[in-house]
Parts: sequence; structure tokens; C-alpha cells
Amino acid sequence: MNIAIIGAGYVGLVTGVCLAQIGHRVICVDNDEKKIKALQKLKIPIFEPGLEDLVRTNIKRKRLSFTTSIKDAAKKSLVIFIAVGTPSKEDGEADLTYVENVAREIAQNMDAYRLIVEKSTVPAATGKRIERTVRLNLPKKNNGGIEFDVASNPEFLREGSAISDFMHPDRVVIGVESKRAEEILRDIYKPLKTTIVVTDINSAEMIKHASNSFLAMKISFINAVAQICDRIGADVLKVAEGMGYDKRIGRAFLNAGIGYGGSCFPKDVDAFVRLSEKNGYEFALLKEVRSINEFQKQSFVKLIEDKLWILKDKVIGVLGLAFKPETDDMRSAASIDIIKGLQAQGAKIKAYDPVAMDKAKEILKGVQFCKDAYAAARGSDCLLLITEWEIFKKLHFKRIKNSMKHPMIFDGRNMYDKKTMEILGFEYFGMGRGGIHGR
Ligand code: NAD
Ligand code: UGA
Repeated sequence: MNIAIIGAGYVGLVTGVCLAQIGHRVICVDNDEKKIKALQKLKIPIFEPGLEDLVRTNIKRKRLSFTTSIKDAAKKSLVIFIAVGTPSKEDGEADLTYVENVAREIAQNMDAYRLIVEKSTVPAATGKRIERTVRLNLPKKNNGGIEFDVASNPEFLREGSAISDFMHPDRVVIGVESKRAEEILRDIYKPLKTTIVVTDINSAEMIKHASNSFLAMKISFINAVAQICDRIGADVLKVAEGMGYDKRIGRAFLNAGIGYGGSCFPKDVDAFVRLSEKNGYEFALLKEVRSINEFQKQSFVKLIEDKLWILKDKVIGVLGLAFKPETDDMRSAASIDIIKGLQAQGAKIKAYDPVAMDKAKEILKGVQFCKDAYAAARGSDCLLLITEWEIFKKLHFKRIKNSMKHPMIFDGRNMYDKKTMEILGFEYFGMGRGGIHGR
């Protein structure tokens, strides 16, 4: 099938490449000329495991191409996915400017039936607005008589495992208002051999709101439990394990730590809270999810302050900056608030991340970026583990310990074993790992 993807960011690019890999002919469109030129030269603008290989393979097979022209793509493609950004406005509501612009431009360039699919995460009822925008902007010469459908197809991939998530999804959700749209989307996803949940458009949009918010809620729940574990002397890892065996609960997304970050959970929880408010319901539960998440970062900074006493001129080594491992994405990374919180009290930061340093340099000022974990640790008063990259598990800890001013580790992701660290000679502080008094 001929498919266009508008917006070649994390989601658009992965979606485009994977659809090409399962046999479709895909044109990826972006209005960022630099990005498109880079992609045409096989330079991948983001770090995502496996992505580069798939781009190469599918360009070679002539199934994948890149352009800045929506016009071109809209003329050649039966199906057009919208995968542009939907950032937060000041009040938390999703800003749909890019979605509207793209919908208008698609309509102006349509000359036959098209299926327009929202892939971006959008507030419920956006499908109806896209439909109206397209209808009002169809070329006048056909008296607006061109047929089209709008559908919702929310994306559930995670950064860092995006390709595998796309290729092996737990389900594909399609929100449609016509049989024709349903059949086209079923055809597109047929090679994935997965469960397809078919709903109306509003319900599909709600599934995405509810899924991301529920996952964020699980994280905040276990983080609240971790706070109590610290106070009464229990181990949150054991608590999560014990809860997780219950199939109704599940172990996934019960990793306590410094809280969730990224371009999605913070923004999507905000957007769901606002959508609820606008529709006359105060989603107090989700507001609390957000507060607990903020509290995790603040309490981490407070714990460091408590142990180091005066932060002014103390040297703090930081391992990991990206919002999660296997990505270079720094959007709403917990590292940002934590580092800024420590800098505000005069601490000096030395940091290392395997892939996110270029992006981090644009956001974090006054940080000494180091060539590896050992350089970040050298001469520091304590070390923070912020992103649980696999390579940080396999460090030569004796070497690290001997190079630090004080061998103290604050493990924001509970990656290390407390006892092992203590045997190695570190003072170890995790998240919810055995009591504020034991800390
Ligand atoms: P992104 O910022 O990485 O990519 C968006 C792209 O759209 C950018 O490259 C931008 O230049 C392009 N763009 C904006 N306006 C355009 C226009 N008029 N014409 C052509 N291109 C245009 O964003 P992202 O992380 O890929 O997220 C996109 C959407 O997908 C968001 O709604 C997000 O919530 C959702 N989503 C993201 C993820 C994720 O893991 N990042 C997962 C699921 C859903
Ligand atoms: C998340 C969802 O998992 C995807 O299903 C969804 O498609 C995507 O948002 C989106 O809508 O954009 P992503 O943000 O890429 O994916 O990554 P996650 O693995 O969900 O992690 C998000 C944040 O939560 C990270 O900061 C991570 O460290 C944190 N987290 C995750 C925890 O603190 N504890 C956990 O148990 C799990």
C-alpha cells in the first residue's frame, strides 16, 4: 500500500520505517529541511536501536523515501498518517497547531479518496475536528466532492525498544467511522498478526489517554509505596516482586525511582487532566499522580543534601542523563530537575551519558560533561545513578571507589544491590530500600 507519514520524529520515523519493513511503500515527510536532508543521506537524527539498519534496508528496497513536500506525499499515497508533535500549552492542554496545519495542507492537496489517520497522541474528539478541517479545505475545483475518511490509530511504542514494540505490539487500536477505513487499516497491519481492537474514533483516543495515564499511575503508586518503605524500613523491590506475581497487578511499571520523564507521560497526564476539567470532571487521582512524580525528584535532591550537608562547592558525579536507557531523548528527563536543584544550592556537576550528551548540552548549563563514567566519578563527593544504562552495571567499582573523594552512591533507579555496594566500600542509598534510618 502507498502510505505517507507526516512528521518524521520518534514516532513518525519508526512507524514509517516499520511499515516499509512489512511491505508497504512509505514516504516520510517533515518540514524540517535539515532533518530530511540528513535522512536522505542516511544520517539518522535520533538514537533508537535497530533504526539505522532498517532505514538502510528499506531505502535500498525502494520502499522508503523522504521529502519535505506534503503535496507530493498526499498525491501519491492512499493513506496519510499524521505523526507531528502535540506539545503542552501553559495550562497543560495539548497544543494541536501542528495537527491542524497538516490536516489543512493534506486537504488542499488531495485529488482522490484518502484515509487520514491520527497517529499523534491527541485529546479525545480531535478526530471530529480533523474531519471538519479537511472538509472545509478540500480543493474548490471539485466542489469539495472528494471522499475521505479520518481514523485514529494511537501508538504505544516506547523509546529505546520502539522497533520491537511496533513489530510485536500487544494490540493495534483502530478508531474508525466507516467499513472502508477499517478494511484499509486491517490490511496495513495484517502482517503483524496481532489483535486488532476496532472502536469509534473517540474511544480509540480515550484508550491512549487512559493507557498512558494508567502506566504513569502505576509508577507513582509504587513511588508512594517506596516513600513509606523508606520510613518504616521495608524494601520496595521485594514489595513490587510480591505484588507483581498477582496476575491482576503484574510486575511491569512497578520500578520505584526518581519518577517518570520523557516527552509523553508528563505531557499526556497534563492533557488528560485538562480534557477532564474542560468536560466538567476533576481528575484528582491524576493530579496526585503528577504531584507524587514531582515529589520523587525533590526528595532525591533533599536526601543528597541531607547526606552531604552543605552542597555549595561539593562535586557531584552523575551517571546517565537521558529520560530512560537506550535513547538520547532528554525531553522532561528527571536529570534536568535534579541537576538544576543541586546547582541551585551551589553543587558542581560532572556528568556522563553514553548517547544523550549532545542533547543534554543544549539544556544543561554549567555542567562538566565527561568522557566516561570514571571521569564523572573522579574527585566527586558522591555519585548519582540517574539513568539505568546497562554499561553502568558493569563498571569497575573498585576503581571508581578509589577515585572518589567520598565513596557514596545515590541510586535513583535501584540498579545496584545495596549489600554488594556496601561490601565494595560504598555508602549506598536507594529509593525505598530499607528505611530512612537505615539510609
Ligand atoms: P517529535 O517532535 O520527535 O516529531 C515530530 C515531527 O513533526 C518533527 O520532526 C517536526 O519537525 C515534524 N513536524 C511538525 N510540524 C510539521 C509539519 N507541518 N509538516 C511536517 N512535519 C512537521 O515528536 P514524537 O516524539 O515523534 O511525537 C509525535 C506524536 O506521537 C506526539 O503526539 C506524541 O505524544 C506521540 N507519541 C510519541 C511516542 C514517543 O515515544 N515519542 C510514542 C507514542 C506516541
Ligand atoms: C511511554 C509508554 O510506555 C508507551 O506505551 C507510549 O507509547 C509512550 O509513552 C508515548 O505515548 O509516547 P516511553 O515514554 O518511551 O513510553 O518510555 P517508558 O518505558 O514508558 O518510560 C517512561 C518513563 O517512566 C521513564 O522515565 C522511565 O524511567 C519511567 N519508569 C518506567 C519508571 O520510573 N518506572 C517504571 O516502572 C517504568
